[in-house]
Amino acid sequence: MSGSRLLGTGSALPRRIVTNAELASRVDTSDEWITARTGIRQRHIAGEGETTSTLAIAAARAALADAGVEASSIGLIVLATATPDNTFPATATKVQAALGCTGGIAFDVAAVCSGFLYALGVADSLLKTGMARRALVIGAETFSRILDWEDRTTCVLFGDGAGAVVLEAPTAAAAGDPQAPGIIATRLHADGTCHDLLYVDGGPSTTQSVGYVRMRGQEVFRHAVVNLADVLKEVLEEAKVSVDEIDWVVPHQANARILDATARKLGIAPEKVVMTVQDHANTSAASVPLALDVARRDGRIRAGDLVMLEAMGGGFTWGASLIRM
Ligand code: UT7
Repeated sequence: MSGSRLLGTGSALPRRIVTNAELASRVDTSDEWITARTGIRQRHIAGEGETTSTLAIAAARAALADAGVEASSIGLIVLATATPDNTFPATATKVQAALGCTGGIAFDVAAVCSGFLYALGVADSLLKTGMARRALVIGAETFSRILDWEDRTTCVLFGDGAGAVVLEAPTAAAAGDPQAPGIIATRLHADGTCHDLLYVDGGPSTTQSVGYVRMRGQEVFRHAVVNLADVLKEVLEEAKVSVDEIDWVVPHQANARILDATARKLGIAPEKVVMTVQDHANTSAASVPLALDVARRDGRIRAGDLVMLEAMGGGFTWGASLIRM
């Protein structure tokens, strides 16, 4: 069965840019270390009045405008975030209220940096069952609010932002046409035994506080390259597509070295990999839709292109999705 079609993309970033040099004036780090180890040069950090929902709403509006559809036609909102406005209700319901499309389905997905892939997979499945005809799938984060600004091993790595896509249920006419636009294959995984390698040391049911990001970076790095290469191969096999047929890879933007190593492992040319980590740092669930929107708007990704999305994050969770634009 063919998958849901991507009608438009949008993104939003906080106004304030924080450079490596500015961070180096606050914590024991340097522009040289951050650039060499991660590829990051700057990140956007949410200021007063900017929250996960305000960024998500701006990205959703941009995606709706790009798709040329009315908010009233959206029957499903799936929002991926690890930094919701509130513990409950879901930030997706705030987006729904702001867009004025109440009555449909709206909920959040918690899969941290792979959240957008999980949200896309869930939305595609719901659209295929007829639960809704059109969906907004959003990744939005304000990770700056859960960073320990005295821990140089994590605080230099993350940024804030949001990205969104509009999805439409597949049509009967597209079924069986390998060139038809839409999601071709998605694979999602989790391994809960890796909890302690990347987690937040707080939460409503444990500490009654929000907590801070804790990460054993080198171990996460090693798992990321192996897991991402494996899941990309799985998706290619399921789609019966060879690696050479991929036009663009849009990976989760955690570290330029992870992107390079994964592409090398699979024999993907580096110029086919969309990289935005230098400008946005790691925006968790927002990074894939943000990078997708950047590459569509600058004219790299066009209609008909075969695009692989992939991500890995806390849990561990990881996944990939192949889409014909
Ligand atoms: O999005 C979810 C997935 N997350 C990831 O994929 C992140 C994966 N991990 C990474 O990207 C990398 O492991 C990091 C960027 C986090 C770290 O890079 P690394 O090359 O693995 O560095 P390291 O942790 O081995 O640290 C090397 C050195 C250490 O000093 P010593 O022990 O060699 O003296 C650290 O203390 O760098 C030191 N260090 C820093 N120095 C300056 C750690 N953070 C910093 C810093 N500035 N910000």
